[in-house]
Amino acid sequence: MAKLTKLYAREILDSRATPTIEVIAILDTGEYGVASIPSGSSTGSYEAVELRDNDPNRYLGKGVLKAVKNVNQEIAAALVGRDPQSVLQLDDQLIRLDGTPTKSRLGANAVLGVSIAVTKALAAASKKPLYRYIAELAQNTQPLTIPSPVFNMINGGKHGAGNLDFQEFHVIPGRTGSYAQTLETGAEIYQTIKKILARRGAIHSVGDEGGFAPNLFTNLDALEVLSESITECHHKPSVDVELGLDVASNTFFKDGKYTIKDRSSPMDAPEFIDYLRDLNSQYPLRLLEDPLSEDDWKNWSSLTAELSRTTTIVGDDLIVTNKDKVAKAIAEKACTGVIIKPNQIGTISETIAVVKQARAAGWKINVSHRSGETNDTFIADFAVGVGADYAKFGAPARGERVAKYNRFLSIEVELQQPA
Ligand code: PGA
Ligand code: ZN
Repeated sequence: MAKLTKLYAREILDSRATPTIEVIAILDTGEYGVASIPSGSSTGSYEAVELRDNDPNRYLGKGVLKAVKNVNQEIAAALVGRDPQSVLQLDDQLIRLDGTPTKSRLGANAVLGVSIAVTKALAAASKKPLYRYIAELAQNTQPLTIPSPVFNMINGGKHGAGNLDFQEFHVIPGRTGSYAQTLETGAEIYQTIKKILARRGAIHSVGDEGGFAPNLFTNLDALEVLSESITECHHKPSVDVELGLDVASNTFFKDGKYTIKDRSSPMDAPEFIDYLRDLNSQYPLRLLEDPLSEDDWKNWSSLTAELSRTTTIVGDDLIVTNKDKVAKAIAEKACTGVIIKPNQIGTISETIAVVKQARAAGWKINVSHRSGETNDTFIADFAVGVGADYAKFGAPARGERVAKYNRFLSIEVELQQPA
């Protein structure tokens, strides 16, 4: 087995001009892995802790030099010169070294950076493509396929221009053909949305995830624009190209009420569920993510009972890629799908364990990027390896989003070749 000869980190920038950590792991066999860690802005309160310097004299307090130092000193001292043996053992060691339930001491960004960099190095040493190495880690014996892309075409909430309450308006092309065809459909619809927004005199600059951030008035207007664009591209909305939403409702939930601009007064949970039911009958949704706030468990169960026959109810901030939250949601029948984000929990092994647990409950798996990204394409290989149903990498625009959708193109070609 290979020994880890070098492990070091540095501070780089993400797609929002905010620092993030890059980790490099080198084996004595010469193989290496480089990982850079994304960052969310509409983060759930129960996510693992992203360690920031909080030094107001650098990057407005957002520097990650403490996390970098933790890799270069404490983590490197524990791991360099050793055989990492397996990702599972490595991650166990990292978890023990950190010693906190939320990885707040060393930083989930530092820990995950090491976990991914070493995973990549070990995959390279095994001479297997990264997605296959991950499939083995996940004991995924199903034939590998490319997940269905969930394109975030319109950015609202914390990622947009400020006047749409819902965070993400998704277009999900149906899978009758190849992934390459779904990407083509997604790109054509993206271009058409731009034309329609221009025609309506709406702003068509883009938000954090490359989707448009228009000055539309209501959430329903945004769904109407998506529907119109799908029709203009000669597809049937909600039939051959479906819609989805990440409501990210934590961002507008306050004092027990959901406040959105579509309604003149704040709604309590049953009223908001009624609103979402009406919306779902007007614009049938394939995926409905975070329709309710992260602590509103009782109402998640009633919403799921009402809507899950037609729509997958997806927990993101509710679940935060955490096994205890998954167990609670299974027991309470709170959702039927899950967003998987490795940096919500902090190691690859724990992320894989959550995928397996959710899969065993019959949930749909949607592997996701974060709103602050880099050009690292690890998440694309991860999504294929664990056999995700969906992958959510933002709009089919902007380099850090397209890098991942393009990685799927090359994996698809490799998967079509005889083994
Ligand atoms: P985030 O948003 O990366 O800013 O947390 C993505 C999401 O909520 O799905
Ligand atoms: Zn989300």
